[in-house]
Amino acid sequence: MSNLNKIKSTLQQYDQAHILQFWDRLTEDERKSLLQDISEIDIEEVCSYFKRAVESLAEDQEKLDNRLKPIPPHLYGAVSRTSPALLSSYEETGLIQVSESKVGVLLMAGGQGTRLGSSKPKGMYDVGLPSHKSLYQIQAERIKRLTQLAQESTGKTGRITWLIMTSEHTMEPTLNFFRKHNFFGLNKDDVILFEQGLLPCFTFDGKIILDKQYKVSRAPDGNGGLYRALRDRKVLDEIERRGIKYLHAHSVDNILVKVADPVFIGYCVQKGADCAAKVVEKAFPSEALGVVCNVDGKYQVVEYSELTQKTAEMRNNDGRLMFSAGNICNHFFTLDFLKKIAYKHEKELKLHVAKKKIPYVDASGNLCIPEKPNGIKMEKFVFDVFSFSENLVVWEVNRDEEFSALKNADGAEKDTPTTARKDIYSLHEKYIIAAGGNFESTPAVCEISPLLSYAGEGLENIVKTKTFTSPLLLKADDESSIVLNGNSP
Ligand code: UD1
Repeated sequence: MSNLNKIKSTLQQYDQAHILQFWDRLTEDERKSLLQDISEIDIEEVCSYFKRAVESLAEDQEKLDNRLKPIPPHLYGAVSRTSPALLSSYEETGLIQVSESKVGVLLMAGGQGTRLGSSKPKGMYDVGLPSHKSLYQIQAERIKRLTQLAQESTGKTGRITWLIMTSEHTMEPTLNFFRKHNFFGLNKDDVILFEQGLLPCFTFDGKIILDKQYKVSRAPDGNGGLYRALRDRKVLDEIERRGIKYLHAHSVDNILVKVADPVFIGYCVQKGADCAAKVVEKAFPSEALGVVCNVDGKYQVVEYSELTQKTAEMRNNDGRLMFSAGNICNHFFTLDFLKKIAYKHEKELKLHVAKKKIPYVDASGNLCIPEKPNGIKMEKFVFDVFSFSENLVVWEVNRDEEFSALKNADGAEKDTPTTARKDIYSLHEKYIIAAGGNFESTPAVCEISPLLSYAGEGLENIVKTKTFTSPLLLKADDESSIVLNGNSP
């Protein structure tokens, strides 16, 4: 049987013969392009995904209340409920891992950031801080500073490998941006970009959609595409080759993210965790944050919409919400756990379905833009691996110190460039006041370069007994110059 006949028969077997419906009128190049698309899709696998996705749609209707349990206290640590001595011990453990080059960062940066209304990858976004640093630059500088802190604490110089997952849309601009900015002063060999996969879009009745007569409509496979991409792009092999044991995985959009947070890593290492979630306490019962909890004996993230109001409002004796562990897309994994997921369980990950308006070609080959949802996109979620963990722990951090997400354009109520700036300013004001500095008036506009301070440390000599005016930008010695708007008394 010729190659084309083989393809035809596979497509027929899975009821997808329509993909070749325009074959006779395609040019040679178009035929090649279509065959290329088809060869990149495992038809049997994606059709079984569609089936599972539709089944999960039906299941999702059901509220989960009766099957839920909160995270038990011994697996649920919190910065606010931990003594300073124990926090220091976690930090020390984390810094030792960094100094031994056992820590890597997995940045999930494949999202399209549609809600922000910018066509560029979110990491390139400048929220308008005095320094005009992008999210990528802020994160890169935190990595650089942390390596220094680990060196100062242990006397050993380790390297943190920064693994950045991009997608079809974000790969090229991200790579160009890093090159243009000389990898923000990091060693270029320690920054690895890799691309996540795509999944075909389906009509509601299970037909793969074409968005050109010779092109299959495909969309990124969600941030849970991480595991497959780590395996298929051979990134896991590289992680292993480098001797990295612990990975801190997080989203690109949290301007306060403590990249490779030594306290979080130290906590997880001391607890012997294979997988962990950093969370913030849910502010109020109806806040739209998924919560980490236990369902039928397995850990997972449950969306607010999956709970009844009554369960969302339940409280512990101490007055805190019973289901309070708000997920912020910030996780810890051991390499062994990632390998277990990638090689054993990747195919079992849940498929989440989004009904979308997906452009398609009609039977005559014309492109149509639908006015209402006409099909589905399927995505995997990074946290759906929790159920495979043998020792999952949760670490709750203070929201004002560690979480401010950039999701929406200005004008929206929350998670905008304006709220991101405000959250940086108020945290950095707090750091300066704690180090003995002052402001003429507050709230202040102030920014501390991550190259100077990772989390408020090392500022006393610079700010003590000084009074500053806004705007203030504190830079490190090796940045172009220190801008001090302060006056010594
Ligand atoms: C995510 C979390 C949600 C959490 C919220 C907090 C997931 C699935 N959901 O929701 O539980 O409460 O953050 O801010 O983690 N990404 C990819 N590839 C993709 C899609 C997304 O790399 O195909 C990346 C994005 O670039 C981003 C991160 O994953 O860095 C989160 O994606 P986003 O779509 O912003 O998730 P949310 O809906 O905000």
